[in-house]
Amino acid sequence: METIRNEIRKHFPRAGEARRLFHGRGHSFEGYSDLTIDAYPPLIMVILYRERRQVWLDELTALLRAELPQEPETILLQERFLHGAPSRLLHGTLPVELEAVEEGLRFRLRLGDSQNVGFFPDMAAGRALVRQLGVNKRVLNLFAYSCGFSLAALAGGAAHVVNLDMNRGALELGKLNHRINGFDPRRAHFLPLELFRSFGKLRKLGPFDLVICDPPASQGESFTAERHWPKLIRRLPELLAPGGQVLACLNGPHLPADFLTLLFSEILPEARILGSLEPGPDFPEAEPGKGVILLHYALP
Ligand SMILES: C[S@@+](CC[C@H](N)C(=O)[O-])C[C@H]1O[C@@H](n2cnc3c(N)ncnc32)[C@H](O)[C@@H]1O
Repeated sequence: METIRNEIRKHFPRAGEARRLFHGRGHSFEGYSDLTIDAYPPLIMVILYRERRQVWLDELTALLRAELPQEPETILLQERFLHGAPSRLLHGTLPVELEAVEEGLRFRLRLGDSQNVGFFPDMAAGRALVRQLGVNKRVLNLFAYSCGFSLAALAGGAAHVVNLDMNRGALELGKLNHRINGFDPRRAHFLPLELFRSFGKLRKLGPFDLVICDPPASQGESFTAERHWPKLIRRLPELLAPGGQVLACLNGPHLPADFLTLLFSEILPEARILGSLEPGPDFPEAEPGKGVILLHYALP
């Protein structure tokens, strides 16, 4: 528990904002690679990737209640090792509504519904970049999920965002996120479509100044990195305006760190890399390049 206590003390949530308190998945803390703890004040979410005994969970609950500057009202455990990743309360009651707050933007959470709660803390660096790049841009947000990147782009002054995801429910949550942040609905579009059957439609809606690609690590027939990233990179030029930019997010611990850069240099050698980002100090990785990697490219 000492390791957890020390880490948590370094990662107290700031002003009610969402924050990763403990990132064991990066294998930086021996014996804890099964554990993630996120703060969505006033709720704390504990995610476990293997079974732990109730006495250990009770100890963790006591630690979280004692250590955090504002005692959590709710501590929710999600057990990812069980089928359907069910959640159960360790402390308090489930709030009727809860939002993750990041840089003043609000993201409605869907707790207990499915494995993903509606917000990815490890994409904060990507959202910050998109917010910064957004000014007057026409943005295409592929694999949009609950549209976090769209909110960031609009907050940064984007002219317009097209969000595409084949998960209609996730896009509904995305629409709600736009409403609760007060964005003009005319600035965002939502396409509940499978990407690889929709390039014709996207071409007609384009060209775009910024295309964001944040696919899953692997999702059955819908997306596998080895098969679908090359297809996606090949289609980017037809979606982009001259000088258009791409933010490509690689989330594949099973892939070599240079997987995407090699693909870009092979398939789109004219694309110039502007930078690469990692999620930052809240997400320590024992082996650099094994976590999320964000690559920022520009076409000529
Ligand atoms: C990692 S999540 C995206 C997270 C999101 N960018 C964010 O920042 O919150 C991946 C999403 O890709 C979608 N997806 C996977 N394969 C797809 C495909 N072939 N066409 C469209 N959407 C797809 C899934 O439905 C899922 O919502």
